[in-house]
Amino acid sequence: MKKVCKILGFAGSLRKNSYNRSLLQAALELLPEDAELEVFDLDGIPSYNEDLEDQPVEKVKEFKARIKAADAILIATPEYNYSIPGVLKNAIDCASRPYGDNAFAHKPVAIMGASPGMIGTARAQYHLRQCFVFLSCFALNQPEVMVAFAQEKIDKDGKVIDRETREKIRELMESLVTWTRRLTPST
Ligand code: FNR
Repeated sequence: MKKVCKILGFAGSLRKNSYNRSLLQAALELLPEDAELEVFDLDGIPSYNEDLEDQPVEKVKEFKARIKAADAILIATPEYNYSIPGVLKNAIDCASRPYGDNAFAHKPVAIMGASPGMIGTARAQYHLRQCFVFLSCFALNQPEVMVAFAQEKIDKDGKVIDRETREKIRELMESLVTWTRRLTPST
């Protein structure tokens, strides 16, 4: 029997009613049977300061440990000013340091994102992919899950109600598990 593929997910938004947190909830509902998804909240990660990187706070230690323990990573990113939110970039910076202890190294990673706008976080997602180069992660290329007009696809309770969006998220999760098993045959 195959091992369960352990995925760690986080959203680049601290907002309670975040559309991107809703995408993670949908991913939880649409996971393949042989996978599990744990959602990590970035709230409480302090601003990165290189002077302090050898004394990380508990929250950063925990974030790094969870990333390292995961077989794969799932990031739901909003788009802020045509890029990724500072909260997400800061969390990634914290987990990638100190030099030589980058928690993301060689991790399979998938992206999705939701926005009320018409581009559905495409610009932010391509900026995030650029970060993956230095982080040395293995980014899943397809499917691209860019949820435009999110207010029409996610209801007031935060449930993703759009059939096509749910199908794309299901496909993303299946592809991430396949990608992870291809890169790490022991998974
Ligand atoms: C935004 N928003 C936004 N949307 C977009 O499609 N492209 C953009 O460049 C921006 N820029 C931007 C900057 C800042 C500072 C804020 C606060 C917002 C709108 C954004 O997509 C919207 O607030 C989403 O709801 C944020 O995602 P969550 O919090 O719902 O997950």
